[in-house]
Amino acid sequence: MNKLRRPATPLLPRRKPTPKPNAAQAATSAQIELKLTSPSWFSGTLQLIYAANTKKGAGKVSSSYETILVERRNRVAVITINRPEKRNAMNIQTRTEGAAVLDELRTDDSVRVVIITGAGDKAFIAGADIGEFADRTALTQREVMLEGSLFNAIDSFPKPVIAMVNGYCLGGGCELALACDLRVASERASFGQPEINLGIIPGGGGTQRLTRLVGEGKAMEMILTGEIIDAHSAFSIGLVNQVVPPDQLETKTMEIANRIAEKSPIALRLAKEAIKLASRSNLDEGLRREVDLFALCFSSEDKNEGVKAFLEKRKPGARGIFARKLPG
Ligand code: COA
Repeated sequence: MNKLRRPATPLLPRRKPTPKPNAAQAATSAQIELKLTSPSWFSGTLQLIYAANTKKGAGKVSSSYETILVERRNRVAVITINRPEKRNAMNIQTRTEGAAVLDELRTDDSVRVVIITGAGDKAFIAGADIGEFADRTALTQREVMLEGSLFNAIDSFPKPVIAMVNGYCLGGGCELALACDLRVASERASFGQPEINLGIIPGGGGTQRLTRLVGEGKAMEMILTGEIIDAHSAFSIGLVNQVVPPDQLETKTMEIANRIAEKSPIALRLAKEAIKLASRSNLDEGLRREVDLFALCFSSEDKNEGVKAFLEKRKPGARGIFARKLPG
């Protein structure tokens, strides 16, 4: 039985109300705003880091989800899409609950990395719930898709997200995996964008993210034929990062997640933001913004400790101490 179907620890307790920043914190916030006014996105990034600092330790994940499970394993949160009888097909409720749990984990500083997987041993996610398509008009379908996309929530999530792909990874399931930062697949996993067989096209980022990841030729092949490929083929075209035997999937994925979770959360966040820029800006703009994000790391205690530890030939202490003041 897949262990994730029954979490080792009970579903997490309800979130406590977020404490308001005290006067000292408010002063720090004002200082940050004063110093970083241009360019506007740069200022925004540091304010976001500060906002995360004020909520440190406050976030807990609510247990009131019906179609997903949430389990915390130290610094890693595991989200399991839990509709195995429907091959974990995503209906509206799954998407809404998925977005809600990400919202909760976003400000929970004790969670550094998120893993997303599917319940059971057959499917990661077999796509959108096709049953919901039956009575939809073009307008209602458009509304559903524009109303807070789970794919975009994963894409812009400020912490690394890993897809642990344990079986069918099709349609919206493949698009969800594509929105994640890393994909680890079981040898039994299979991938495809079979929407064309239903007379539709991928609508959750498949035509864009798949093309950016594997190139136009392979994306065309997968989307136009709707054919399903195995995990090794997916690896050979760069769709997945690693393929492992089914019985090692959880261990290997947790190893990667734990390794990442040890790093500075600020550096992780800025690295993710910088990498995402590569496919969204031209080279000059990307390089310029990379320099700004690199410089922003210099406002963190993690950078001070990391550099100091190297120079003192010792291991750095615990990461995740958020910057409380600007560099002098
Ligand atoms: N939406 C809604 N229900 C789905 C589903 C989906 N995307 N994928 C599977 N299911 C349901 C089936 O209808 C079936 O429900 P039932 O038991 O009430 O009849 C159940 O899940 C099991 O599916 P089944 O086809 O019997 O399992 P399988 O292991 O033989 O095949 C798949 C699995 C994933 C290959 C097959 O179900 C499939 O092709 N699904 C659709 C994939 C797809 O087109 N995705 C893109 C959607 S845009």
